[in-house]
Amino acid sequence: MRAVVVGSGSEIPPQAVTNQMLARIMDTSDEWIRERSGVETRHYVEPGTATSDLGVAAARRALEAARVSPEEVDLVVFATMTPDHYFPGAGPLLQAKLGLRSVPCFDIRQQCVGFLYGLQLVDAHVRAGLARTVLLVGAEVHTGFMPYSAANWDYLYGRSDVPPTPAELSWNSRFRHLTVLFGDAGAAVVLKAQEDDSRGIVDQILASDGADYEKLYVPGTGFKHRPYTDPEQFARGDHIPVMDGRYVFKLATTRMVEVAQQVLARNRVGMDDVSLVLMHQANRRINEHCQKALGIPDEKIVHNIQKYGNTTAATIPLLWDECARAGRIRPGDLLLLVAFGAGMSWGATLVRA
Ligand code: ACO
Repeated sequence: MRAVVVGSGSEIPPQAVTNQMLARIMDTSDEWIRERSGVETRHYVEPGTATSDLGVAAARRALEAARVSPEEVDLVVFATMTPDHYFPGAGPLLQAKLGLRSVPCFDIRQQCVGFLYGLQLVDAHVRAGLARTVLLVGAEVHTGFMPYSAANWDYLYGRSDVPPTPAELSWNSRFRHLTVLFGDAGAAVVLKAQEDDSRGIVDQILASDGADYEKLYVPGTGFKHRPYTDPEQFARGDHIPVMDGRYVFKLATTRMVEVAQQVLARNRVGMDDVSLVLMHQANRRINEHCQKALGIPDEKIVHNIQKYGNTTAATIPLLWDECARAGRIRPGDLLLLVAFGAGMSWGATLVRA
C-alpha cells in the first residue's frame, strides 16, 4: 500500500513586493538581494489574511485537480511555522473552513522540511490502513515577523509619502539579512491510498539535530518566558527570528547533499533515473551548490525562489504544483525532494509520481 499524489494546488497572495520596494524602508539593494539569494520578488498578504486562509485556498485547488470531494478526506496534515494562533493549530481551522468531516488534523512544525516530514506521516497512516484520502498542506504568512511600523508598510507600498525616520531605517535594517528572503504562500497536495506499489512514496530519510537550534530560531515569545510574551521582548526584537546565515548556509549545503546521496544509494538509483529534483527554496546559491555536488543537469531541476522567496513549508508543494500544471510531472516519473531548515532538520524523499 502506497500514498500517491493525485492532485496539487497553490495560493499566492496578489501583492508582489520587489527588492526595490524593500529598499524604500531599509538599507538594502536589489543587487545585494539578487546576488546573495536569487530572490527578485516575494508576495505578501494584507493584514487579516492568515496562514489557514492560504492553506484553504490551496487545498480547494488541490481537491479540484484531484477530483476529490471534501467528504472523502479522512486525514489532514498541516505543516507551518506561522499558524494563525498559538493554539489551536491551523489544521482544525482548515478542516472547518473547507467543511471536511471531523477527521484527525495534525499540525507539524518542521519549518522548511515540514512538507517532507508531512509526507512521512501521511505515508505511515496510509500503509497502516488508518487513512485513504489525505490533504497535506504547507502554508506560511511570514509578514507577521516583519518588524516595520504601519507607516513604514504604507511607504513600502507607495500608499504614503512619509519615509522612515533614521531610527526606523536602522531598526528595519537590523533584520535585513533575514526579512528580505521570505514571502507568504500556501500549497497543498491530495494523496490517495493505492494498493499496488507502482507509484507513491518510495523511500525517505529524515533527520534532526537540535544541538545548533540557536543558529536559526525565535528567541522570544515562547513558554520558556514567564509571561510568554511581554513588551521588553518586543523592544529587544526577540519576536523576530535570529539567523546565523553563513552557518546555516554551510550546514544546508552539506546536509542536503549527504541526505540526497543516501536516499539514492539506498534505493540503488542514480540521477539518470530521476526525472526532476525539487529542492527547498531558501537561497538559489545553496541549491546551485547542491546541484553541482549531486551532478544534476539543468533540465532536471526547477527554481522559483526568484518569484516567491523562501515560503518555508510551502516551497516544495508550490514547486510540485507549478511543475504538475506545466506538464513537467508525469505519472511514473521518479522525483527527488530535498530540504533543510530550522531545528536543525533535513531530509530527502524519493517519490514515484
Ligand atoms: N542588504 C544589504 N546588505 C546586507 C543585507 C541586505 N538585505 N543583509 C546582510 N547584508 C550585509 C551584511 O551586513 C554584511 O555586511 P558587512 O560585510 O559589512 O558585515 C554583508 O552583507 C555580508 O553578510 P552575510 O550575512 O555574510 O552574507 P551572505 O553572503 O552569507 O548572505 C544570506 C546572507 C543570504 C542570509 C545567506 O547566508 C543565506 O542564505 N543563508 C542561509 C539561509 C537559510 O538557508 N535559511 C534556512 C531556511 S529558513 C527556515 O528554516 C525557517
